[in-house]
Amino acid sequence: MSVVTVEVGLGDRAYEILIGPGLIARGGELIQQRLPKARCAIVTDENVAAAHLEPLVESLTAVGNAPAVITLPAGEKTKSFSSLETVVDQIIAARLERGDAVIALGGGVIGDLTGFAAGIVRRGMNFVQVPTSLLAQVDSSVGGKTGINSPRGKNLIGVFHQPKLVLADTGALDTLPLREFRAGYAEVAKYGLIDRPDFFTWLEQNWQEVFSGGAARIEAIAQSCRAKADVVARDEFETGDRALLNLGHTFGHALEAATAYDGARLVHGEGVAIGMALAHRFSARLNLASPDDAARVEAHLRAVGLPWRMSDIPGDLPDADALFNYITQDKKVSRGALTFILTRGLGQSFIAKDVPASEVISFLKEQRQG
Ligand code: GLY
Repeated sequence: MSVVTVEVGLGDRAYEILIGPGLIARGGELIQQRLPKARCAIVTDENVAAAHLEPLVESLTAVGNAPAVITLPAGEKTKSFSSLETVVDQIIAARLERGDAVIALGGGVIGDLTGFAAGIVRRGMNFVQVPTSLLAQVDSSVGGKTGINSPRGKNLIGVFHQPKLVLADTGALDTLPLREFRAGYAEVAKYGLIDRPDFFTWLEQNWQEVFSGGAARIEAIAQSCRAKADVVARDEFETGDRALLNLGHTFGHALEAATAYDGARLVHGEGVAIGMALAHRFSARLNLASPDDAARVEAHLRAVGLPWRMSDIPGDLPDADALFNYITQDKKVSRGALTFILTRGLGQSFIAKDVPASEVISFLKEQRQG
């Protein structure tokens, strides 16, 4: 199966995303082609290390570039100041210079943490992303957002630091648990719903092949990366259009917070799935879009086995007022109005800046009963 290349067009900081099977085992040669003199450190977690570290270390060693390896515990708690300190300290202890490369091998937690460390050690080192989850391959590894969590909220501390290269080895997805693959798929569907209705229709027809692997999976990841690369190239620092990538995230983040980030109840991509369905339902309630579009989104999420309504979350949820408070912790309420990503129809999302808080609360009350 051939490798697809997507370019992120950021002028002299442009980089390639390579998508296809077997890329981890070719990592040494691919990194050396782009960063010929760089010595390397790999940052990974214990789970990913067991499955994918050896081929990457071997390929780097084979090109004369035996890497330092920094292995951390798996899980969201690793996106912390103490892990950042460990990574920074070990990069410096390995005597890497600014022109050397820090490689993130893992999912979103490892990618975000490692990118942040690479962005601040020696005022910014070369950074390579080797994402091993679907969510990381289609979203977090692309676009340069890096960071850690604060006890006061997720992703509150970080920097923009673009990678020099992204190696999305689609073979790594073969061993992902189905629930994790599905959660990443929510972000794939998101790109169709933002502004690529034909892609959404294609997903409705081909999602089973995307789940089973092969060419359709590579195509879905490549389309997602193209969509993200387009947005990032026109609004790298999220002063405008990049906010569209947050479709489903306002409701989703509130639900994640309301379930105390308990992954047994709700993981990020599942929150985004419910959030996207709610954003479409809410748009219909505000007479911006047809309820048929919301029904179509819900039907697709249900077909792939993703949760699509609040009642799909196991256990009790707080009431509508408490959910609204979680939303306002995530965003500013300006004179009783909020900014949301809403839609005028399938694939016609837009940034709505004046959404009345009262409408949000009534909608949440309705949804809590439904
Ligand atoms: N994950 C949203 C963004 O990169 O902007």
